[in-house]
Amino acid sequence: MNAEEKQRYLERYKEKKYSDGEFFWPDSIAKDAVVSLGIFVLLLCLAIFVGVPNEPPANPADATYIPRPEWYFLWMFQLLKYFPGQLEGVAIVALGALIAVGLFGLPFFDRGPKRHPLNRPIATVAMILIVAGMVFLTVQAAVTTPPQAEAIDLGATKEAQIKAGEELFKKNCADCHGETGEGGEIKDKPGQETRPLNSDDFLLTRTSDTIFQIISYGQPGEGMQAFGLAHGGQLADQEIRVIVTFIESWYVPPEAEGTDTAVTDLAKIENPGFAKDVKPLLDKYCSTCHSKRLKGNFSIADFDKLMKSGDHAPNIAAGDAANSTLAKMLHGVKTDAGGQMPPNRPLKQPQIELIERWINQGAQNN
Ligand code: HEC
Ligand code: HEC
Repeated sequence: MNAEEKQRYLERYKEKKYSDGEFFWPDSIAKDAVVSLGIFVLLLCLAIFVGVPNEPPANPADATYIPRPEWYFLWMFQLLKYFPGQLEGVAIVALGALIAVGLFGLPFFDRGPKRHPLNRPIATVAMILIVAGMVFLTVQAAVTTPPQAEAIDLGATKEAQIKAGEELFKKNCADCHGETGEGGEIKDKPGQETRPLNSDDFLLTRTSDTIFQIISYGQPGEGMQAFGLAHGGQLADQEIRVIVTFIESWYVPPEAEGTDTAVTDLAKIENPGFAKDVKPLLDKYCSTCHSKRLKGNFSIADFDKLMKSGDHAPNIAAGDAANSTLAKMLHGVKTDAGGQMPPNRPLKQPQIELIERWINQGAQNN
């Protein structure tokens, strides 16, 4: 641009500015304020109506978590990958400084008076290249990093959590601990047994946190591996939490049991029937071990099996509860066939007496 051209340009600029031009204050500021307000309201609406996906709660022990910046910094994050090891710091500091100095220096080294992008080829091309580079790096970062695990939705209500816990327990624990924590022989490891987890002994003496720790860390010395991600297992903390909730749901407080089955009313049933009174009790308290699973080869699945099955069959002497192995076991008397039934959780006295009355009256299929 020669001097004459420049002169003309400046004159036109002056003219424009004072005839129909605008001032920075208050004209531009007002426009900026309106736009800022619009963006603020938009952000507010996004926060209220769209929100941000929940990530799992922070867990310092979880080594699988991939920290990453928000999307608008992803390009920088990606840039780091091209500077191995020690160079990372250099790259970020040097590059950052370069950008800052460049921006500060812009008015000094770009002194051309022309403003239209087409009249400023170097600046325009440089900017296009920079923006394209940022877009490229952002896309690159997005496609090469796996998505962050979102918070696993394991249900909001207690019921939903128990259900989720049950699924996880069946999948991860039931082979060794039984589907309802009844314990027993470990699948594929004959001779090795687990103690019941559903006993009052267990449930009343362990806090939720203790049970959580046992599952997360495992009991390596006793044959149970760690399940927590923090210890090399594959269950996230929330998954272990719902398993604990499921395990704790086995505990039946004594008073609840009383109202639940109306235990005290059982004493009023003078002539108990098999289908109506006895079978429901057996189903409720014995089926976890004596129906699908066959502990001692004994099944309560139907009348015939109840009377005839078992390693020590018959376990019921019709008309004689005192000499029936089953009745003895309900009282916790040690017999050749085993001890307390159900193990660790005796039935209530009225329940035992009802079964005994039924046996004494001839143990009929009535
Ligand atoms: C490979 C078999 C195996 C698997 C699978 C397994 N455990 Fe265990 N677990 C054991 C053994 C063996 C013990 C040792 C104590 C015992 O005899 O019960 C044990 C102990 C426990 C205890 C402590 C018991 C006590 O009396 O202190 C808890 C609680 C427990 N396991 C929960 C779980 C849960 C929940 C899962 C599933 C996430 C699971 N276990 C999976 C074998 C297993
Ligand atoms: C937590 C699992 C479990 C539950 C629940 C359970 N049992 Fe057993 N039962 C066993 C095991 C294990 C044996 C094998 C004997 C032993 O090792 O003590 C057994 C054996 C028996 C036997 C002897 C079978 C034979 O012929 O050798 C009888 C009878 C019996 N149970 C009755 C019952 C009754 C009745 C109930 C319900 C009121 C019940 N059990 C609930 C685990 C259980």
